[in-house]
Amino acid sequence: MLNNNQERYGLISKSLHWLLALMILSLIAVGAYMTDLDKQDAMRGQIYALHKAFGVTVLGLVLLRILWIKLSRPPELPVALQNWEKILSRVVKVLLYILMLSTPVIGYLMSNAADKPISFFGLARLPAIIAPDKDLAELLGEAHELLAFTMLTLVGLHVAGALKHRFFDRDPDTDVLKRML
Ligand code: HEM
Repeated sequence: MLNNNQERYGLISKSLHWLLALMILSLIAVGAYMTDLDKQDAMRGQIYALHKAFGVTVLGLVLLRILWIKLSRPPELPVALQNWEKILSRVVKVLLYILMLSTPVIGYLMSNAADKPISFFGLARLPAIIAPDKDLAELLGEAHELLAFTMLTLVGLHVAGALKHRFFDRDPDTDVLKRML
């Protein structure tokens, strides 16, 4: 039940998948919203702090997810899939993992470079890995935005793929969504 098997994902993989999907989409929405807020807005600081703390949590959960893939092998892609579908699905998956790791790491480094504190929900102040550097902070800010919106595009493709198998192909052998529900 907790472990994956060759027919379906187990409870741990499913929970991590849906929790991360929810958190990442919320972080993108909140990130886009908060950067438009007036600097005088009383809520701005709190929203930034929450974005950072949830962003760090996402990084931890993605690392946990990678560890879990090593510990409990996920099901293979259905043999009934076309070759191009298998290749596209693998490419999107690898890119999503790269982005799920790099987006929060770049966000973290950006805050360090901007000399802004990162607190983990007020429980602990997280250490700076790099020294303050205003130009670098701006560059990392651009990169953070680009990575986050590239991730959003890939999530769109990933969802489109899952929906295609369920609603267009209507073939139970290629319906990968049921293994994750
Ligand atoms: C998967 C995790 C994350 C996602 C998807 C994400 C997404 C975003 C997005 C979409 C924006 C708005 C970009 C813009 O329109 O300029 C943003 C801004 C920001 N993010 Fe993240 N973020 C993540 C993690 C983090 C982490 C871990 C930190 C720091 C510890 C962080 C710090 C920031 C800061 C400081 C801004 C505002 C930049 C500015 O004021 O120009 N983010 N984020």
